[in-house]
Amino acid sequence: ELWHVNETSPEEYDTRTSAAARHLAAGALVVVPTETVYGLAADATNGEAVARLYAAKGRPRFNPLISHVCGRDMAETHGIFDETASKLADRFWPGPLTLVVPKRPDSGISDLATAGLDTVALRWPDSPVTRAIIEKLGRPVAAPSANRSGRVSPTTAEAASAEVGDSVALIVDAGSCRVGLESTIVACTGDRPTLLRPGGIPTGEIEAVLGAPLARHAGDTGPDPEAPAAPGMLASHYAPRAKVRLAADRVGADEALLAFGPALPQGADAARAVLNLSERGDLVDAAANLFTYLRELDASGAGTIAVMPIPETGLGEAINDRLRRAAAPR
Ligand code: TXA
Ligand code: MG
Repeated sequence: ELWHVNETSPEEYDTRTSAAARHLAAGALVVVPTETVYGLAADATNGEAVARLYAAKGRPRFNPLISHVCGRDMAETHGIFDETASKLADRFWPGPLTLVVPKRPDSGISDLATAGLDTVALRWPDSPVTRAIIEKLGRPVAAPSANRSGRVSPTTAEAASAEVGDSVALIVDAGSCRVGLESTIVACTGDRPTLLRPGGIPTGEIEAVLGAPLARHAGDTGPDPEAPAAPGMLASHYAPRAKVRLAADRVGADEALLAFGPALPQGADAARAVLNLSERGDLVDAAANLFTYLRELDASGAGTIAVMPIPETGLGEAINDRLRRAAAPR
């Protein structure tokens, strides 16, 4: 069932969010919008529902999931916030920041959702409808991106439906995701806060709040990409069917071009398909368009998607991270 949030009256909105919460409480899966990407949601405290979620995604191993909350109180019921974690939550929640913190021993979040770790990833998303659903459920919602494992994350309900539509009781459609890239993940579990994944909040903004650089996580380029220290950050990820060629300064007639900025490379006129992430070279626009355009260029049937260079500043860090994973050997 598909629910278009933006076309719903206030009375019906209440009925619909209650129905979504009931599906979750009954152990079913629901596709929910967030400001980053669409999520495939399950009641995080229900191990059976979480197992169903892993199966629906086809995750090759059990990688821990982000538990989504609707406030600081709910977050602190499940995780232990030190001064750093509190500072970051104060500044960036609700929003595209995930905090990995020590898990409270009496947290009801299932061990499957945290993959048996003694830490938990928590996020308060900035989507009114999803917050309303979590509030009505009264418990955290585990939600990875609503795509099959290893594939491009969905930023529209249509894309989510094509990926996991068969496995869910309800798809909540609130239009295109504002940010378009997954949340930034910071671990506050040791002496120094550590960046586990660049994402929707530029690393520099986080470092400005902390007044110190984040430690960087080095683990996901190690010899065994299936056993990363930040589980789930596999080298090959976000992969379209087509090959992805980075830093392209020219494009062939049989290739599709993912452009950035006003000046197109040699061969662009004859390319099979061209989409520009941002003609004016804006990285926020580029982030919002990235996954949708990768999907569209993939659908053009081109064997290769050539990608123009993207600056590594601001959201460029997260954009380039996703593009490198899309281009990684599979
Ligand atoms: O924007 C987002 O974060 C989206 C939306 C739906 O909220 N969710 C998302 O979830 O990207 P997912 O499952 O695709 O990515 C979660 C990442 C994985 O790389 C996982 O390894 C990491 O979070 N993670 C979760 N719990 C962790 C933990 N306790 N320690 C280290 N990494 C953890
Ligand atoms: Mg994902």
